[in-house]
Amino acid sequence: MNDTTGKLTLTRPDDWHLHLRDGDAMRSVLPDTARRFARAIIMPNLKPPVVTTEQAAAYHARILSALPDELAGRFVPLMTLYLTDSTTPEEITRAKESGLVQAVKLYPAGATTHSDAGVTDIARCEAALEQMEKLDIPLLVHGEVVDPAVDIFDREKIFIDRVMIPLLQRFSGLRVVFEHITTRDAVAFVQSAPGRVAATITAHHLMLNRNALFAGGLNPHHYCLPVLKREIHRQALLEAATSGHARFFLGTDSAPHPVKDKESACGCAGIYSAHAAIECYAEVFEQAGRLDQLEAFASFHGPDFYHLPRNTGQITLIKESWRVPEQVELGEDRLIPLRAGEQVGWKLMECPPGQRVVRPG
Ligand code: DOR
Ligand code: ZN
Repeated sequence: MNDTTGKLTLTRPDDWHLHLRDGDAMRSVLPDTARRFARAIIMPNLKPPVVTTEQAAAYHARILSALPDELAGRFVPLMTLYLTDSTTPEEITRAKESGLVQAVKLYPAGATTHSDAGVTDIARCEAALEQMEKLDIPLLVHGEVVDPAVDIFDREKIFIDRVMIPLLQRFSGLRVVFEHITTRDAVAFVQSAPGRVAATITAHHLMLNRNALFAGGLNPHHYCLPVLKREIHRQALLEAATSGHARFFLGTDSAPHPVKDKESACGCAGIYSAHAAIECYAEVFEQAGRLDQLEAFASFHGPDFYHLPRNTGQITLIKESWRVPEQVELGEDRLIPLRAGEQVGWKLMECPPGQRVVRPG
């Protein structure tokens, strides 16, 4: 995979956790992902959220039509539904039958951006979860408790005991992805969990610890949820991602927000990383001395867990430094991308035109 000429060729990767938004904003950010990744799991937290299969199908069509001509046919959006207290088993059946919807996302109500329509009490989702278990649709979990009495840095850890463990016990066949894990507790939990439990890990949680929020002053562009944690947690994530363990895989959680919403008295949570995602992961894996594990993490473990074929195309990165722009267009607005104005040590070589990707069956 890696050779002495500083070229790194790997099976085209997928992003198992992505926020694309909609309309002009989506049109701006989508090419960043489609150039790098063959497929992405598209988060449903639009306003209003994607709660029905019909809405997911319409969103899917809008994504495809937002792709620029040179990327058309090179990117497959994998759709999700937003679980609510009133999601019906019939809706889950429609989702499965559509062939478009791959998973259902659980946002505890109030946990993060656009989660107000989320689940207030998981007991209310009993019927929908039973049907997901029966039809083998994975549940993707934003794993943080929303109890205001719980310290924000402990919300993931407490979620494991209060929600995740009872959930897995109650639904003993349900496949679950613990999204964007941020703690050594979540790493240990996934390692000791049954094979039906996996986790995504973002590039920013591998690169940054919570000091990045306060380095030289308050840094709203490093604010995301779950919030960055202590260095011991980053080390545990790094070890998990680079270990070759099949149940950890790539999910950027790239989440674009206009600069004015980030640089605000009440700034939004979300870090935009799609413009340099695979390059940042390559840097992190290289620094850990585990570049040989990048392909499995980025291109194999995800499709294996989702029971989808691995991609057949390839991407090539070259060991060449490039400067991340200070700002990126976001519809009529602008956003500040991760590593803005900084050098990134790996550069993407453009994919040859006409190279197509494998579509899910
Ligand atoms: O930081 C985040 N941003 N975390 C999430 O869970 C949601 C996301 C967003 O949609 O902006
Ligand atoms: Zn997310």
